[in-house]
Amino acid sequence: MSQYDVIIIGGGPGGYNAAIRAGQLGLKVACVEGRETLGGTCLNVGCMPSKALLHASELYEMAAKDFAGLGIDVTPKLNLPQMMAQKAESVTTLTKGIEFLFKKNKVEWIKGWGRIAAPGKVAVKAADGTETVHEAKDIVIATGSVPSGLPGVTVDNKRIVDSTGALSLTEVPKSLIVIGAGVIGLELGSVWRRLGAKVTVVEYLDRITPGMDEETAKTLQRSLTKQGMEFKLGAKVTGAKTGKSGVELTFEPVAGGPAETISADYVLLAIGRRPYTEGLGLDGLGIAPDKRGVVANDHFKTGVPGVWVVGDVTSGPMLAHKAEDEAVACIELIAGKAGHVNYDVIPSVIYTFPEVAVVGRTEEELKAAGVAYKVGKFPFTANSRAKINHEAEGFVKVLADAKTDRVLGVHMIGPSVSEMIGEYAVAMEFSAASEDVARTCHPHPTRSEASKQAAMGVEGWTMQA
Ligand code: FAD
Ligand code: NAI
Repeated sequence: MSQYDVIIIGGGPGGYNAAIRAGQLGLKVACVEGRETLGGTCLNVGCMPSKALLHASELYEMAAKDFAGLGIDVTPKLNLPQMMAQKAESVTTLTKGIEFLFKKNKVEWIKGWGRIAAPGKVAVKAADGTETVHEAKDIVIATGSVPSGLPGVTVDNKRIVDSTGALSLTEVPKSLIVIGAGVIGLELGSVWRRLGAKVTVVEYLDRITPGMDEETAKTLQRSLTKQGMEFKLGAKVTGAKTGKSGVELTFEPVAGGPAETISADYVLLAIGRRPYTEGLGLDGLGIAPDKRGVVANDHFKTGVPGVWVVGDVTSGPMLAHKAEDEAVACIELIAGKAGHVNYDVIPSVIYTFPEVAVVGRTEEELKAAGVAYKVGKFPFTANSRAKINHEAEGFVKVLADAKTDRVLGVHMIGPSVSEMIGEYAVAMEFSAASEDVARTCHPHPTRSEASKQAAMGVEGWTMQA
């Protein structure tokens, strides 16, 4: 039986960051991961492969539609096997990179599926069925999440696919129905639409991207519709029938009315993800997960001494950077340091075109909380860099406290805003006022000037034609 200071179960962004930080702090650490490769959902079947396809498909569409206007005459031809191969290659480089970091930081990778046999004891079942038991003072659960299912829609990853299946289709569908107008549906729907599919998004609610600032969500929907994506909102899916060459999907209006049936080559089910705890042995420990996963009572503590939890398997946004920050803070607490995560400042991005990037609270949340706020808004049509690049869609919106001017929320929609939101995350971490950003010199010409101008707009001195 081997002995560790800490064992982490799961090798995704929560698990691998916890393991590496533990190694850096001189703890004897092991990470249990059952997949063939490290990196979890994010590196293997999530963030990275999806961004690889989003990048490639965006360039493909630009080459087909926008290059001529820039004076570059090309007729792009899609090579889907190569597009998939470059995606796979990038993923392999990244997952191998985690292996390298494990070695560098003296993290042992125990290959297999972990079960907490008792506090301080982790049993690991290897692929050949053998089980080994390992001891640790502290155990961190970082087992992540898996796609949610929908009764009547059976994912076979042939015709009805989840996100993993949609990342590896071997042909461009003529038509694709996406169930769920959330982040996955819009990102992967964009990939296949750009490559030539007719995409129809069927969403239960009467809006897309629930939780997002409404004005931003409407702007995104308008833009995606203009690109050719069709939306059927307020639609309750009642069943999907798979045939040899496609799927028939039936849905009815949530508000009542006759059912409708549409068909497509493929259906992507993307209605959210659920925390994954199967086989972990939580029953035996007296840990009862709720709908949002393993409950962390206080700073990643599960209530069972020495058993901690981070990432998608516990509450909060299911985002890689949230898992990563929790992992680092959790290990620092285990090591007797002062780890902390500020849940008010977790940015999130939708990598569509235009991108959406947000941090902090929405107008709807501020209104509901009765907080008086001011709005500064700046459109990219008035930003010189966006204009010369012929990519002037979208805006930056800054919400600041009406009394203190402290930045409470920022909502951006436009090309490359994923690279702009970090500035406001830092500003909010430092409790900045909008005036702090407004009076910070930004380089010209850059899109980031729209961030400054929006902050200037809070006090009404935006320079806009
Ligand atoms: P996971 O990454 O799910 O890792 C958990 C790991 O634990 C898995 O590898 C699993 O095999 C392993 N495991 C589970 N049980 C056991 C066990 N008993 N024993 C051993 N190992 C076990 N987030 C972003 O921030 N940005 C993005 O752009 C983004 N894009 C995404 C795109 C898609 C298509 C998807 C599906 C997700 C995306 N996400 C994105 C979400 C992101 O992938 C997750 O938030 C992140 O991976 C969570 O990290 P985690 O470590 O908590 O869990
Ligand atoms: P989601 O929660 O973003 O969206 C799910 C959508 O499906 C919602 O609009 C919801 O109203 C709808 N829905 C739910 N039940 C439905 C039903 N029965 N019929 C029709 N619509 C229904 O979930 P998604 O897109 O599956 O993504 C899962 C998680 O992965 C997200 O929480 C997100 O945080 C993470 N992710 C993050 C990315 C990023 O940061 N760029 C990219 C992809 C995923």
